[in-house]
Amino acid sequence: MIQAGKLVAFPTETVYGLGADATLDAAVAAVFAAKDRPRFNPLIIHFPDADKAGEAVVFDDRAQRLAKEFWPGALTLVLPRRTDCAVSRLAGAGLDTLAVRVPNHPVALDFLRAVGRPLAAPSANRSGMLSPTMAIHVVQSLGASATAILDGGPCRVGIESTVVDLTGGTAVLLRPGGIPAKAIEAVIGPLAMPGKADGAPKSPGMGNKHYAPRIPIRLNVLARDPGEALLGFGPDAPKRGCLNLSRKGDMEEAAANLFAMIHALDQPGFTGIAVMPIPEDGLGAAINDRLRRAAGP
Ligand code: TXA
Ligand code: MG
Repeated sequence: MIQAGKLVAFPTETVYGLGADATLDAAVAAVFAAKDRPRFNPLIIHFPDADKAGEAVVFDDRAQRLAKEFWPGALTLVLPRRTDCAVSRLAGAGLDTLAVRVPNHPVALDFLRAVGRPLAAPSANRSGMLSPTMAIHVVQSLGASATAILDGGPCRVGIESTVVDLTGGTAVLLRPGGIPAKAIEAVIGPLAMPGKADGAPKSPGMGNKHYAPRIPIRLNVLARDPGEALLGFGPDAPKRGCLNLSRKGDMEEAAANLFAMIHALDQPGFTGIAVMPIPEDGLGAAINDRLRRAAGP
């Protein structure tokens, strides 16, 4: 199907991706159409290993160290395209840079090796909506747009990859994600935040409203209003009438549960979703980033 230019959703350790042959303009265009995604928002290109990624982009010393430490894994690197890069210009939204990643999931890696082409794969949801962490979420969000869905069960990490831009002298954290910024800084030194570093590029896909459920979402709530669903965190959350991201307060468990629980509470029977405060440490930064966007104007 991939070789015929069709779209196939597949599991990664972070979220499900909607995959297309990254070298076929028509297949890549079909991804943008299926998601109703703005054409200026470039896609992440997935490879089975760092060597294959190195055929599309230029690795500097920082990129090499990060790939060695975190690939396969939840880290996406934005790097300069090679002049002979086979990836569709549309997939990269016409930029001279490309976001590349090697996912850490046996099904994704087998799939990438089997198709023998890089896969352009955004999260397999309609643009602006919640990312899918289970095959059923893909069906609900995209309907029949995916010709097939490879069901690998629930995603272990549950939150998208961390995106780091290495195209400038200063490494920039474009999107907090499944690998905490501190772990990356331990390998290549301090990361700049977009907008803070001089002239730092902003990730085109980090528009404010994103990851949105259909009903409103309210953050840092201690007690829910009547009619609201409650998304709790930690041992102090009520035991009844509440889904708890992690009763023992574990950030990794919370990240893995985040999208599935919001999906589950996103029901017209509730007036909204009230979310208890979640600490910023470790994966908390990525969790709070997604929640702020979900709640955004
Ligand atoms: O975990 C993930 O990263 C998942 C799985 C499927 O791999 N994919 C994913 O893709 O989250 P997507 O398309 O939903 O998010 C891609 C992010 C967007 O914020 C986009 O703007 C940014 O990466 N991005 C892609 N190419 C870029 C580039 N050349 N420069 C800057 N940002 C880029
Ligand atoms: Mg997405």
